[in-house]
Amino acid sequence: MPLADQLTAALLQRVGMRADITASKIQAQLEKVPQSERDNWVTHIVNSPPHSPEWQEFIEPFLIHETYFFRHENQLEFLASKVLPDLVAERLKSGRFEFRIWCAACSSGEEAYTAALLLRDAIQNSREAAKKDWRLSVTGTDLSAEVLAKARLGEYHTSAGLHSFRDVPSFARHHFTGIFQREEKTWHPDEALKRTVQFQQRNIVSDPAPVSDADLILCRNVLIYLDEPSVSRAITSMHGALRPGGVLVLGPADMLKHTQGWELLTNQKAMFWRKPAATALSIPR
Ligand SMILES: C[S@@+](CC[C@H](N)C(=O)[O-])C[C@H]1O[C@@H](n2cnc3c(N)ncnc32)[C@H](O)[C@@H]1O
Repeated sequence: MPLADQLTAALLQRVGMRADITASKIQAQLEKVPQSERDNWVTHIVNSPPHSPEWQEFIEPFLIHETYFFRHENQLEFLASKVLPDLVAERLKSGRFEFRIWCAACSSGEEAYTAALLLRDAIQNSREAAKKDWRLSVTGTDLSAEVLAKARLGEYHTSAGLHSFRDVPSFARHHFTGIFQREEKTWHPDEALKRTVQFQQRNIVSDPAPVSDADLILCRNVLIYLDEPSVSRAITSMHGALRPGGVLVLGPADMLKHTQGWELLTNQKAMFWRKPAATALSIPR
């Protein structure tokens, strides 16, 4: 098989990446290796285990890590005003004060901290919920060790511009007052938020889900890069990880091809997918 095709096949099989997206970058990677060494190099790469430094270094240029806090205002407004309050109310009614979020393909962590901030607001804004002692967890996962290191560090700077803060909607700016008043150059999560959010290296296509019984899963701006069978595998895994009644948030450009097993939750600006609750929430203790 030609060398480029071997790399295309490995990326498709292991990461789920569509061949039309990887083609030009594969060529660029091959050209960096002297002609006489290419055969050996490709054999070495395609046989490296997925967590090996060689494979990780090879896939990094193919991954797009674009992200920022409170990305996609319309979705997050619906999440903050309707979806999270309803999910928190369901947990409250169940008597089990635990809430789990999985942020799949979270890149450098801004999305996971956004979810944790929104969850904390939803609990504080409910008089009943605010009285309870909650166990909250947000698990951010990504394939890339490089961005996960940044996420774990949890320091977001403005030295190179507002990058991570460039589109924070007005309803959320109070979380970053120091940044927007130009009194601070770095934002980092407070201790309680840090305890809530953990990060793990996971491939959404082939690794088991990092949580079960999740209330909410965000998987945004990644499925567009994957081929259809890989998207199906990822969605099946997320369906399994949600509790009955739990909600999946995809990117605004992502459509569910197979909606069986899902109910659509929508307002005029956003669409979310809910795993139907067999009955009212019933969670094994
Ligand atoms: C464009 S970023 C999206 C970040 C965030 N979800 C957001 O919407 O702002 C896509 C992320 O998906 C990750 N990714 C790509 N393929 C993946 C896979 N198969 N499993 C897990 N993460 C993957 C990349 O490393 C990258 O950090």
